This record gives sequence, structure tokens and C-alpha cells, in this order.
Amino acid sequence: MAWLSRATARLAAGGVASPRAEARRLLAVVAAVPSNQVELLDGVTAPQLAELERLTAERLAGRPLQHVIGRAAFRTIEVAVGPGVFIPRPETEAMVGWVLDQLVQDDATAPGSGAAAGLVDVAPVAADLDDWPKVVELGAGSGAISLALAAERPGLRLWAVENSPAALAYLIRNTADSPVTVVAQDLAQALPELDATVDQVVSNPPYIPAAAWEALPSEVRDFDPTVALLGGADGLAVVRQVAATAARLLRPGGRVACEHDDDQGVSAPAVFRAAGFTALADHLDLAGRPRFLTAVWPG
Ligand SMILES: C[S@@+](CC[C@H](N)C(=O)[O-])C[C@H]1O[C@@H](n2cnc3c(N)ncnc32)[C@H](O)[C@@H]1O
Repeated sequence: MAWLSRATARLAAGGVASPRAEARRLLAVVAAVPSNQVELLDGVTAPQLAELERLTAERLAGRPLQHVIGRAAFRTIEVAVGPGVFIPRPETEAMVGWVLDQLVQDDATAPGSGAAAGLVDVAPVAADLDDWPKVVELGAGSGAISLALAAERPGLRLWAVENSPAALAYLIRNTADSPVTVVAQDLAQALPELDATVDQVVSNPPYIPAAAWEALPSEVRDFDPTVALLGGADGLAVVRQVAATAARLLRPGGRVACEHDDDQGVSAPAVFRAAGFTALADHLDLAGRPRFLTAVWPG
């Protein structure tokens, strides 16, 4: 496909790190086909070509691919993104996988479940809504984490907490027609009506130390919202709020999973230990770097 090669060459010449993958994505958007069918296109129309040129130029001007096309992929789902909302990152996907694994284990050991008796290997959805696990996401941004959980594990009650008006606009749009309840509150005070009843809290909070701001890549600094990035002087200010709110919300035995910077593999778990959590563990992301902690609320 000549247009794919041409767009790839332009992006490569402009220093884009994955030029073929990004060119395929851009062409897929303008031709309105799935990315894996781009090579099968016979050609593009003149208006489609003009649109491809425009999007390629925007990308070459430094806008993130996700802002250029208005979408970001996360695990099995896609969300709308743009100025004012954090672009979901692949490093967060492993934390969501951990949460899903725990829920599957819970299903397998639940009293009376077919899985517990070794009869089925697919997680059953409880018939009674009151029996569905309660999951709260703190600092939900676009809603990618909550929506991925909803897509991959039907039968959850999900609350997505966010306090940025710009992010809330995306969150509300992305969660329309989903089981996710949007909560427009500060995560420090969120959802008092759920105190001591929640099964799982999950969060990817802002965790970058203020002093690291200048060293951030311009694609991050210029396009992700500051409130989604910075976590005070040591980067852990919002992580401490997440620990306190998780301690309030979780039932005894409930679990928390919280993302952190790759040099906070000791300091972030220490925050949760100091807040009273047990069974602290730190986990690597897909690139092998310390990325998220998990812990249990003893009650
Ligand atoms: C790193 S982003 C993560 C967004 C999303 N969970 C994801 O992984 O793509 C952190 C989010 O927390 C939100 N946030 C920061 N402080 C908050 C607070 N005090 N209360 C509620 N949300 C907050 C930010 O607006 C931002 O959307």
C-alpha cells in the first residue's frame, strides 16, 4: 500500500519511534477500517488522502498520536481522549490484569460456585446484584481502568472517582452505556456511603515529584494535564490520600492496587504499610520496572 509506505517514511523522517504502526493507525482512521486491514485497501480517495496528510502533519508537529486521532487503546477497550485528560498508558495494564486475576480467584473459591466444585472454568456472574463485587477507582481520568475491568469481568459494581472538570467530561462520555458510575468528588473524601464495604480499590494517581517536572518528555509535559502527573514534593502526596481513602472504603480482607513511579517500589508500599495495610507486595510492569503495589486491608 503506497500511502502506508509514504506516511511511514514521513513519520520516520520526523523522528517518530514506531512510524509504521502509527501510519497504519492513521490510515485506519481516515479509511474507517480496522488497523489490521489497512494493507488490504486498494487505495484512498482524495479527501481521505488530504485527511491523512493533515493528521500526519499534526503528529509531526509533536501532538501525541492519541490526541491526533482522539482515541486511546487500553487492554481490550478504547476510550476517547484529548486535551485535559490523561492518556492511558500500557504500563497500567498489568495492574488491571492483577485485579482481574484476584477476582477470578475469588470466583473460583466462592462457596457454592461451580468453579469451587471444579465444575466450570468460566467465572459465573452472581444472580443477585448485592453479591457483585464492589470496585472503586480513585482518579479515573478517561475511565480506561474501570471500563477495562467492566469489559473483562462482567458482574462488577464500579465507581470511578475524578475531580478534574476537563477529565470528567471525557469520563462521562466514555462511561455512557457502561456499568461504571461516575463520581465527581475529591478522592480524599469520596463515597463515604461505601465506607467499609468495598472489595477492591484501584488507582493510578499522580505520582511524579515536583522537581522532576522539567525532565519530563515534552510530549508528556505539554499534553497530559499537570493534575494527572504531579504528586507534590516527593511524588507521594496523592498516594497517601489513596491509602487513607482505601483504608476507609475497604471491607476487612478487601484489596488495594496502586500504581507508582518506577523509583517508588519501596517508598510507595511503605505509605500503605504505615496506613495499616498488610500483605504488601510490589509488582513489575510489562517492561520489568517496579510499577504498582498491592495490599490487603485487615479491618
Ligand atoms: C495519572 S491520571 C490516571 C487516569 C486514569 N486512571 C488512567 O490510568 O488513565 C490521575 C488522575 O487522577 C485525577 N486526580 C488527581 N487528584 C485527584 C483528587 N484529589 N481527586 C480525584 N481525582 C484526582 C487526575 O485528574 C487524573 O485524571
